[in-house]
Amino acid sequence: MRTTPIVVILTGSAPAGRVRVQGWVRTRRDAKDFSFIEINDGSCVANLQIIASASLASYAETVSALTTGSSVSVEGDVRPSEGKGQKYELLATDVMAHGIAPVDYPLQKKRHTFEYLREIAHLRPRTNSIGAVMRLRSGLSFAIHSFFKEQGFFYIHTPIVTTSDCEGAGEMFRVTTLDINNPPRTEAGVVDFNKDFFGKEAGLTVSGQLEGEICALALGKIYTFGPTFRAENSNTPRHLAEFWMIEPEAAFYRLPEDMDLAEAFVRYLATYALDNHGDDLAFFNERIDQGVISRLEGISTSPFERVSYTDAADILMRNNDRFAFKVSWGSDLQSEHERYLTETFFKKPVIVYNYPKEIKAFYMRNNDDGKTVAAMDVLVPGIGELIGGSEREERYDMLLNRIRDIGLDEKNYWWYLDLRRYGGTPHAGFGLGFERLLLLATGMQNIRDVIPFPRYPGNAAF
Ligand code: 4AD
Ligand code: MG
Repeated sequence: MRTTPIVVILTGSAPAGRVRVQGWVRTRRDAKDFSFIEINDGSCVANLQIIASASLASYAETVSALTTGSSVSVEGDVRPSEGKGQKYELLATDVMAHGIAPVDYPLQKKRHTFEYLREIAHLRPRTNSIGAVMRLRSGLSFAIHSFFKEQGFFYIHTPIVTTSDCEGAGEMFRVTTLDINNPPRTEAGVVDFNKDFFGKEAGLTVSGQLEGEICALALGKIYTFGPTFRAENSNTPRHLAEFWMIEPEAAFYRLPEDMDLAEAFVRYLATYALDNHGDDLAFFNERIDQGVISRLEGISTSPFERVSYTDAADILMRNNDRFAFKVSWGSDLQSEHERYLTETFFKKPVIVYNYPKEIKAFYMRNNDDGKTVAAMDVLVPGIGELIGGSEREERYDMLLNRIRDIGLDEKNYWWYLDLRRYGGTPHAGFGLGFERLLLLATGMQNIRDVIPFPRYPGNAAF
């Protein structure tokens, strides 16, 4: 017999006749002649209620031994439920246990803190909240590919091991096979990376953008969607050491098209979540954050605000008494400033563009004012920065000067410069942090709880 997912049964579309379900026991309650067993199979947030009569052959040995966390296969007949809380239930004809969980199962039926759940990351996908997060991650991943397919972008795979630091921020994890206790040294006494596996210093990528640009200048419109690593020591609820980033890059795009793409993308994903994950969102709205659905609806239906950095800085300077970090023209925006703009001032997503060049990466295109670059960040309520992007500096001399000014080694960027010599074009792109999107879509408060196995300073367990 094929197994029927519980989500199929509860939506009333189960096949007629006998079905089999397989999952994990959440609770068992015994009445005089039967037991109620609630099981969850991960296909949806709701449990299926099983009625197991004491007259079943497997009752004494199996049903009465079932504990929270045990795994079971149950065969039976679906019927409308007389009880409150569910439309359908399963009248069992056979119950088989695969594994009986001892009573010290760490997920007993009570609220656990998210901090505690992180310590048992091997079991927390079985909780309602992490289960719902994981279904949404899966659905939104699919939606990302559909969006770009509909827009004519090609999915490309950029390397994870790299020898160029895209953001130039020195936050790369090192990749080496050298003996760290006894590395080979040059005559000058410094570590000799020529003898390392790749013949030079290598690390885990902080962004696929530079390679993405290569492909955009051949295929036109591309995107990447892959793991990204940053060795920044940021112990915040919005930073991970390993996260997933989506990076579209399009030849011939300028900043306005880039902003249009970013806005269409975020709105598409919000709409997708509302249309396809109503049950999980209802769970988040009820149990995690009562504003989550209305926020997504707002994103899905109304246009974003667009404001230049200079105008945004003016707004912030008028409100400097609210902030721990005071703003003046040229300051980098902190999370408190970003959130003030999007949550309090505009009350909707905001795209801030034309940032001072000093606070942005070397590859961003210089504006004619000599002070700003054609950069843009998308800020959203509850989070702050969701997206960072820009037009890229396509003029060879300007780019070379910038690389030199910042003190990067131009030899490492020879191919990036070459792209400007051989058929260079204006182009633009952005990066969206997938886990930040999930914070937005779930209302979860900590980024460590929207990825199954979070990596952050001091933790790479599981
Ligand atoms: O603003 P960032 O650093 O931009 C880039 O990496 C560009 N190369 C993107 C591009 O233009 N192709 O990062 C982009 C986004 C941020 O807006 C944020 O959502 C997310 O990536 N992000 C992080 N998410 C989780 N943990 C971290 N440590 C993150 N750092 C950035
Ligand atoms: Mg950024």
